[in-house]
Amino acid sequence: MIFLLYKGIIIRIERGGIMIDSHAHLFADEFVNNLDEVVSRAKEAGVNKIMAVGFSKETNEKALELAKKYPHYFYLTAGIHPSEASSNYELDLNSLEDFLQKHQVYALGECGLDYHYGLETKEYQLALFEKQIILSIKYNLPLIIHSRDAINDTYELLKRYPEAYGVMHCYSGSKEMAEKFLKLGYYIGLGGPVTFKNARVPKEVATMVPLDKLVIETDSPYLAPVPHRGQTNESSYIKYVLAEIAGLRQMDSLVLERQLDANTIKLFRLED
Ligand code: NI
Repeated sequence: MIFLLYKGIIIRIERGGIMIDSHAHLFADEFVNNLDEVVSRAKEAGVNKIMAVGFSKETNEKALELAKKYPHYFYLTAGIHPSEASSNYELDLNSLEDFLQKHQVYALGECGLDYHYGLETKEYQLALFEKQIILSIKYNLPLIIHSRDAINDTYELLKRYPEAYGVMHCYSGSKEMAEKFLKLGYYIGLGGPVTFKNARVPKEVATMVPLDKLVIETDSPYLAPVPHRGQTNESSYIKYVLAEIAGLRQMDSLVLERQLDANTIKLFRLED
């Protein structure tokens, strides 16, 4: 058992428990020289499984390498991020489908819409996302959805495909929109931003999502939680996200952890 003092609250974390980081990119350049240490620290912090989330042709391959190097620890996902959207999207989709057929993949994503950086590729993003939704149905895989400054279009597209399911990763929308995604059956994923001091909306969302529809993530190496905000994020920091949500929901952190783990296992059909 690990005791963590977080914002004045003592949090219990079960060492060797099954805490899961439902979204990380530990194949990133940031970890080229210290991956083994980062994995050791994650294990030490009680993290027992990590989703290795690919988002491009290149990173899907890197995620695959991770899953091969650490079997039953990293779980492979593959997708094409909206920032990759171009007029070549059909070629990218063909190679993604090829990849899905060759490897054991636990989710399709991350994929989605990002109008913050890529408004000029909107047309390609919409086509790329829609085709990936269709692929997820064909292969019966959960979607890992990235949505930035595009929440309404994301919702409208998902609504057209009721057979699709998955998670709104690092959800940053309103409570009202969260209700709508929940109604479609989607899980809500929360990460580092929920710990930020002024993150009023993510904190509200953290308390309104039904317990069986919530998952947590780091999105490592991005979006490190308090007290590491601004630094390189790593999976061991998931404990701060857990602690924050336990505090907000006034729940025992162990009880919460077990529920979140069960949700992630169910969503991605991971072995226990
Ligand atoms: Ni990500």
